Amino acid sequence: MKVAILFDQTIKAHSTSWSFPWINYCEQNNIDFDIVNPYEIEVVNYLMNFDIILWHFSNYSHTDMLMARNVLFTLESSGKKVFPSIKDAWHFDDKLAETYLLESINAPIPRSYYYYTINEVENAVENKVLEFPIIAKLRNGSGSHNVKLLMDSKELMSYSKKMFTAGLDSAPNVFHKASSNIKSSKNIKTFIKRAKRIPEFIRSFTNAKKFNRERGYVFLQEFIPNDGFDLKIVVVGDKLSFIGRNILKGEFRASGGGSLFYDKTMVPKNVIDSAFKTSDKLGFNCMGYDYVVDKSSINGKIIEISYGFSHQALINAGGYFDREGNWIEESLNAPEEILKNLITEKI
Ligand SMILES: Nc1ncnc2c1ncn2[C@@H]1O[C@H](COP(=O)(O)OP(=O)(O)O)[C@@H](O)[C@H]1O
Ligand SMILES: [Mg+2]
Repeated sequence: MKVAILFDQTIKAHSTSWSFPWINYCEQNNIDFDIVNPYEIEVVNYLMNFDIILWHFSNYSHTDMLMARNVLFTLESSGKKVFPSIKDAWHFDDKLAETYLLESINAPIPRSYYYYTINEVENAVENKVLEFPIIAKLRNGSGSHNVKLLMDSKELMSYSKKMFTAGLDSAPNVFHKASSNIKSSKNIKTFIKRAKRIPEFIRSFTNAKKFNRERGYVFLQEFIPNDGFDLKIVVVGDKLSFIGRNILKGEFRASGGGSLFYDKTMVPKNVIDSAFKTSDKLGFNCMGYDYVVDKSSINGKIIEISYGFSHQALINAGGYFDREGNWIEESLNAPEEILKNLITEKI
């Protein structure tokens, strides 16, 4: 059994990279592994010598978004065990693709609208199809950068006009993330820890300038009234854990805000059940679900999915739920669990 961990060692890896827990796991368990630069010429030929190929590619890297899936899916199609797999990642960082996929299995999602001409938006407004406020999202992005709350049809029309002309810049705005992370630091220690990560953000920012403008569609979601938090729910095999994320004052968005909580009584049973069910039906090896819980019905709605997330923040939950909803006091290290499952043929 030979494992390839893809990352470019000449560039200092982001501290949140899953390459580190993968390397640790291989070293601790005497697994034969190699670190492979994914950007090399003839990389696919070289990777044919391995059994398992792992790459925590990121939506912050334009290059990764350009070619990571070409490499991974080529290898998976030729019979290799690959993470993320086609099922995990063909829709990665594309909220429209995710919506079509989740609709196909009747997963609990907010009412969703996607329009590909401005006339369709105008018709929807005229026929009073939409309720305001409503959420508008670009297909890509994370940390809430590309998510807006539109208060009325006037705001929607002006947003739509932009989306059908010059478009909107979709590049991750790292300065927003850095500043809200620092603002939400509760003590000086976390403040310093977070401030130290700013060079990483700036590095990501330089690369972010390569991103295209988004245009030619309007994607809207019903606004789910909530109690000021959302939940990142992660399912790996038979284990499910969570990261609670508070919405900061004056905001409606939790993601990227940096204020976390781990009160497991805040995770409703319907969320546990629907997350397991969705992962089973769609064949995910590992999936991070963002849920907003409707404050009147306590029903959780999936607002986006993504194979990658902060595994460190997930470890801090200190345990996981099993399929029956029992809490097991043993941290879920998602990258490690994925590799374990791949090796033991569970995937
Ligand atoms: N339909 C919705 N109803 C209520 N709040 C939402 C909805 N969609 C997103 N949000 C809020 O906005 C934040 C960012 O949205 P999300 O779709 O997760 O985008 P990102 O990819 O930037 O994380 C979420 O963390 C949540 O707090
Ligand atoms: Mg999100």
